[in-house]
Amino acid sequence: MKKIVAFNGSARKNGNTNFLLNSFLNGAEKYDTDSDIVNAHEINLDYCTGCLRCNLIKRCSIRGDDWSNLSAKILDSDILVFATPIYFHHVSGQLKKVIDRFRSFFHVQITESGLNHTPHTEWNKDFVLLLSLGSSSDKDAQPVIELFKGLTKILGHKNRLHVIIATRLGVTKQVVKSKDELTNLYPKLGLSVKLVDADFHKNHQVLQKCFELGEKLSV
Ligand SMILES: Cc1cc2nc3c(=O)[nH]c(=O)nc-3n(C[C@H](O)[C@H](O)[C@H](O)COP(=O)(O)O)c2cc1C
Repeated sequence: MKKIVAFNGSARKNGNTNFLLNSFLNGAEKYDTDSDIVNAHEINLDYCTGCLRCNLIKRCSIRGDDWSNLSAKILDSDILVFATPIYFHHVSGQLKKVIDRFRSFFHVQITESGLNHTPHTEWNKDFVLLLSLGSSSDKDAQPVIELFKGLTKILGHKNRLHVIIATRLGVTKQVVKSKDELTNLYPKLGLSVKLVDADFHKNHQVLQKCFELGEKLSV
């Protein structure tokens, strides 16, 4: 049975991120999976303080928040999903707080040519990025993709990264809106209704891609 830990970085209840994530999990549910959804804005998590004690003690030194439980689940998982809206070309602040605590999973050594990262244990997991953007182009997601390419590699050479990007999504539930609803919405957003047909199709396709990835990774 595949174990999934899925982080939702959007605080919007009916946010587009939510729909991407649910499609992925619906696909995964077709097989015997155990999914844990972690709403980044709801958990009790302190910020990384940069104490760097994790380099010595091989765990985070912060006590009294949810990290101890959460990190155990992360270590035990087969699939890690990071679903987030793009905020200023990056993950949401809520999710960034979680990612900073990943520092405790590896050792960092400063060298003359850069940083050497050594994971405390070599992981062999699927990392999934589900990104919701307001922009019409993928470009704003690049810093996040670069971050995860690095993180995935640092934590073990067998890790795999999968990325799905959904574009031109501004208001809640937009990704699941019907053609009629999009036709009503687009002028309010300053978008041409000429885009509606193609966007309706694009939205449907991206949700389908999420579903199929969930299905594929959970076998
Ligand atoms: C603070 C903030 C910053 C944003 N920055 C960007 C950005 O840099 N690029 C972009 O494409 N969209 C940006 N957006 C738009 C959201 O990424 C987009 O609407 C997304 O679909 C929202 O996801 P949600 O519905 O799950 O909350 C930003 C939105 C907010 C609130």
